[in-house]
Amino acid sequence: MEIGHFMWLRTHRARYDVSSSGVKPIRLDDVVKLGEAGDFIEDLMNVYGVDRKNLAITHGTQEGNFAALAALRDLGLIERVITVVPEYEPIRVLPRFLRLSQVELSINESLSELINHIEKGSALFFSNPNNPLGIFLSKKLLWELSDELRRKGAYAVVDSIFLEFVESNLRDLPTENVIFTFSTSKFYTMSELKVGWVIGDDRVIREVNGIIDLVSPLVIDLNLRYASILIRNRNWVRERNLSIIMPNVDTMRRIIGDIRDYVDISYVEHMPILYMRIRCGEVTGMSIANELLSRNVLTVPGYYFGRDDGIRVGLGSVGSEDFEEAMKIIVNVTHEKCRR
Ligand SMILES: Cc1ncc(COP(=O)(O)O)c(C=O)c1O
Repeated sequence: MEIGHFMWLRTHRARYDVSSSGVKPIRLDDVVKLGEAGDFIEDLMNVYGVDRKNLAITHGTQEGNFAALAALRDLGLIERVITVVPEYEPIRVLPRFLRLSQVELSINESLSELINHIEKGSALFFSNPNNPLGIFLSKKLLWELSDELRRKGAYAVVDSIFLEFVESNLRDLPTENVIFTFSTSKFYTMSELKVGWVIGDDRVIREVNGIIDLVSPLVIDLNLRYASILIRNRNWVRERNLSIIMPNVDTMRRIIGDIRDYVDISYVEHMPILYMRIRCGEVTGMSIANELLSRNVLTVPGYYFGRDDGIRVGLGSVGSEDFEEAMKIIVNVTHEKCRR
């Protein structure tokens, strides 16, 4: 088995690298300056307003996804998984890897369509906000989803790694029949360490903890201490992230007008990624991404999200000058490809 998205990132380098969906890593020295660490579990209980029994610690979001889906299968609660396209590749691959039957739903403008596909014994499994489109279900819709899941005897595993970019109040997430997975990988990006956490239905969380104990018990305390400092300073992290992302969003909006006739931009405010769909003839995302590579710009083709109709561009991992240069090259390449 191979995750093509990761192979793409590992095998390509470019001067202008807008392939990352995270934000520039926060330096450990800067984290230490923010203040004292507390008990990470208690910090999470405060931020999410949940009980200890609704919480599991992992090494990352993908580990949480793996444990959550495996737990639902192991408890005999699900046989079928509904995923969406476009979607982060490891999410699309995991159900079949766990020998669960899978249905893929094509989405465009909204994720709310998912609510119509809930059936007994099934799990919805999706990123919220969606990677690469950024569209997301608000807390209100998540509550509606949870009600419907409970009524029908179904579940949802919601990869919430990007949630904090679009939602600052994380309290009152519905935990009945829903499992949310998180980590420090995007909003709290650090190069040196990573921690994940899972929040949700207590029966499933108990099983998740058992699976983590089986596969990779005990997250190192030092990781938890740094993560605790960060989560206690969420507002500082948010301001810092926005100071990197928003100037790049402004640049994108200023420059993209030149290719308005050829592309649709999917961008949700404050997210660190945008998706650029190409609307000209037979031009694929992969062909644009390869042409960009030859001009020193690294993006991720939609192909790796199950839809080869565009490219994903990161807004948080490069400074404004490099971003502007990358965007100009993207505009030029799109012009050349689409004018033919
Ligand atoms: C939707 C989604 N989930 C999970 C991950 C990876 O998370 P982690 O590094 O915490 O396993 C990513 C990374 O890009 C992602 O986009």
